[in-house]
This record gives sequence, structure tokens and C-alpha cells, in this order.
Amino acid sequence: MKGIIFTEFFDLVEQAFGFEVAEKIIDECDLPSGGVYTAVGTYDHTEILALVGTLSKITETPAPQLLITYGRFIYPKLHAQLKGMRLEFGSSFELFSSLDDIIHPEVLKLYPDAELPNFDARRLSESQLLLKYSSCRPFAYMAEGLILGASDYYHENLSVTLEHHNTDDTFYTDITITRQ
Ligand code: HEM
Repeated sequence: MKGIIFTEFFDLVEQAFGFEVAEKIIDECDLPSGGVYTAVGTYDHTEILALVGTLSKITETPAPQLLITYGRFIYPKLHAQLKGMRLEFGSSFELFSSLDDIIHPEVLKLYPDAELPNFDARRLSESQLLLKYSSCRPFAYMAEGLILGASDYYHENLSVTLEHHNTDDTFYTDITITRQ
């Protein structure tokens, strides 16, 4: 997982819970990286899961809730990268429908070692889109947060529901997005 995901995570933890909590979760997790991250580095994605799990225990906040908050927080940073890719979308649905074919492939050109999920997009109606998430990593709740971040960006009112269909080796989640 790219270092930016970790550095932004610690920005959020420090803002929301303070520096001491950020230090404490690093101390409590026995991390191969030692908790030292640079934006351009690449780290094992299980480290972020360990950090989120420990933060969840310390703050008594469910881990899915933390991942949603984190996705919403980091979204503007990811969206800002679209400009450099000369990409622009008129609405959130247009953007979500381009994740698999355009956005994440562009991300891979920039960071060949990025680990990205798949999103099969199906328009259900004028106001509803189904995104079929699949990944060997369990970040569907972060996807929910990113979707809410996009709704903030486009000033749209979106609601999101998740339905998990995980198998032994792959995380599958049907993400239904409804525009009010
Ligand atoms: C709402 C729209 C988006 C959604 C739902 C989404 C979803 C995700 C998810 C869930 C992951 C975690 C990896 C996994 O699940 O296997 C991820 C990783 C990532 N995405 Fe997206 N993404 C969105 C938009 C973007 C945009 C606009 C950019 C930048 C142009 C971007 C760049 C990245 C990067 C750099 C990673 C990290 C890859 C790694 O750590 O190796 N995403 N995305």
C-alpha cells in the first residue's frame, strides 16, 4: 500500500485524537516498518489494518466507522491528483463509472506497485449506481468513505449501502449508491 495512505492516516489521527494517540498506536502495533512512512514508499497493507484495529480499541470506535471517516478525509487528496492526469468528471456517478477503466489504470501508470481494487459499475436507474467491489484486501468501508468524499466534492447528497459476499480469498462487496 502506498505511503500516502499511511501519512494521511496519521494526519487524521493527530487531528481527531491527538499526537499521543498516534504515538500509542504505533507503540502497540509491532510493525515491520517501525511506523515510519514516506509518501512515496510502499508498505504492507496489513499495517494499516493493525493500526486501525488498535485505534478502534483505544477510542472504542468500530473499525468500519474509522475506515469510512478515513476514506472521506483522504478523498480530496486523491481527487487532486486527477488534474495531473488531465481528467475531469461532471458528476460523482461519472467518476465512479470511470474508476476501473480510467482512474485506477492512470494511478498504476504513476505508481506501478499500487495495489488497487476492481469496481464493476452498473447503472441501476437515473438515481442509483451499483459498484461491485472486489479486492484481495478488505477496504470496502474505505471505498464507502471515498464515495462520501466524492459526494462532498460534487455537493451531491448520496447514501451508500454495503452488502458483503466475501469468499475465502477475495473480498466482494456490492456497494449501492443512491442520489437524493
Ligand atoms: C470515489 C472514488 C474512489 C474509490 C471508491 C476508490 C477506492 C479505492 C480503494 C477501496 C482503495 C484501497 C485498495 C483496495 O481496496 O484494494 C484505493 C486505493 C487507491 N486509490 Fe482509489 N478510489 C477512488 C478514487 C481515487 C482517485 C480519484 C485516485 C487518484 C487519482 C485514487 C488513487 C488511489 C491510490 C493511490 C490508492 C492506493 C493504492 C495503494 O496503496 O497501493 N483513487 N482506492
